[in-house]
Amino acid sequence: MQKVKTAVVGCGMISGIYLKNLKDLFHIIDLVAVGNRTPGPAQERAQALGIRAMTIDQIAEDPGIELVVNLTPAFAHYDLIKKMLLAGKHVYTEKTMTVEVDQARELVALADEKGLYLGVAPDTVLGAGLQTARRALDTDMIGAVTSGLAVVNRNQALNAEHFTFLRGQGGSLPFDVGVYYVGALLSLLGPVRAIRAFGAPAPLHAPEFLFANGDAQPWRIPGCNVVSAALQFECGALVSVLFDGNTIGATQHHLTLFGTRGILRVGDPDSFNGPVSLIYADQPEAPLPFTHGYDGVNTLQPSPYDHYGHRGVGVAEMAYAIRAGRKNRCSKEYGLHCLEVLAGMEEAATTGKTVEPQSRFEMKPLAPGHYSSMFGGALRADAEASLVE
Ligand SMILES: NC(=O)c1ccc[n+]([C@@H]2O[C@H](COP(=O)([O-])OP(=O)(O)OC[C@H]3O[C@@H](n4cnc5c(N)ncnc54)[C@H](O)[C@@H]3O)[C@@H](O)[C@H]2O)c1
Repeated sequence: MQKVKTAVVGCGMISGIYLKNLKDLFHIIDLVAVGNRTPGPAQERAQALGIRAMTIDQIAEDPGIELVVNLTPAFAHYDLIKKMLLAGKHVYTEKTMTVEVDQARELVALADEKGLYLGVAPDTVLGAGLQTARRALDTDMIGAVTSGLAVVNRNQALNAEHFTFLRGQGGSLPFDVGVYYVGALLSLLGPVRAIRAFGAPAPLHAPEFLFANGDAQPWRIPGCNVVSAALQFECGALVSVLFDGNTIGATQHHLTLFGTRGILRVGDPDSFNGPVSLIYADQPEAPLPFTHGYDGVNTLQPSPYDHYGHRGVGVAEMAYAIRAGRKNRCSKEYGLHCLEVLAGMEEAATTGKTVEPQSRFEMKPLAPGHYSSMFGGALRADAEASLVE
């Protein structure tokens, strides 16, 4: 199968693991170039990887580049995605697709009009943990899902001292981190029919980390930084969601689905290997072995970015979809629905009304039985085969 010539735009924190995985892990990807708003970081990365550093315009104009991976901050996504789609490139973007739902709808329509692929993170939904959970549901291990609970907390204002882009639109905890929980729920339960919610804003934050701040001005993360929501899924499940960015950074993540015959507990959806366990009446809780690869454990040359796991698997799965002419799993419709749910929670909280997302999506599970490693992690195995169809 012909490899897909790919360029990455955005050379910040998350680019380390993407570049490593896209260069070395996925046979379908031919990573040829890297770009950034400012040229220095792109030149550094390009030199280390033996690829080209290009400007954003050069990437857009290069007829050889088929796919652009967008690793810029969320508020910059719309302009870059639109530019690359207009230039005839397929695009895969980090979350969230945009910060405004209308912009995301426009990009989905543009990609459709041009017959181009637009893929959207989080791709942790293709990881071993969430694919195992999906298989447990698809094979009817807990019966019909009646309800669920999704919780995550952080001190988002403190985090925003380090990650300055979190101070802008799309930086609230529900958008920045809640998106992993919403993405996981969507991948397990399908589309959301209706949303009700309460919310609270972030406090005005006076910088605490003197070493991290040139400017001492206080700022406020926009939007609701705490959301307590009820999601009614089309499948009938009612899920309680609590995202609290106004508390401490000792993250308590919960993702539990209650079914007519059992309970499924799912690990951190911001990772590729959150443990999955099963609870049946009057039985001890039992861990489920992973049925899939992409478990976040890197068996190649170790690097400082390895804790970010198998990020980039959504890019590779989309590259196979491009070659096969089939739908990709982390699709633009999935990305749009994620954003509609996140924005819908905020809208429901601020208006007191019930919000109904307009978009719909489908996400097929990956084929089970393909793993990332063999011989106890000593050798790489054939997980990539699960991305082909
Ligand atoms: N940091 C994480 O842990 C993490 C994890 C998963 C996903 N993400 C997502 O990945 C994306 C990037 O995150 P990050 O942490 O690497 O951010 P970052 O701020 O560390 O890096 C962003 C990079 O993009 C460049 N950039 C900004 N605007 C640009 C533009 N218009 N055109 C080209 N380059 C531009 C910046 O110069 C910088 O090099 C975000 O969407 C974020 O939500 C981050």
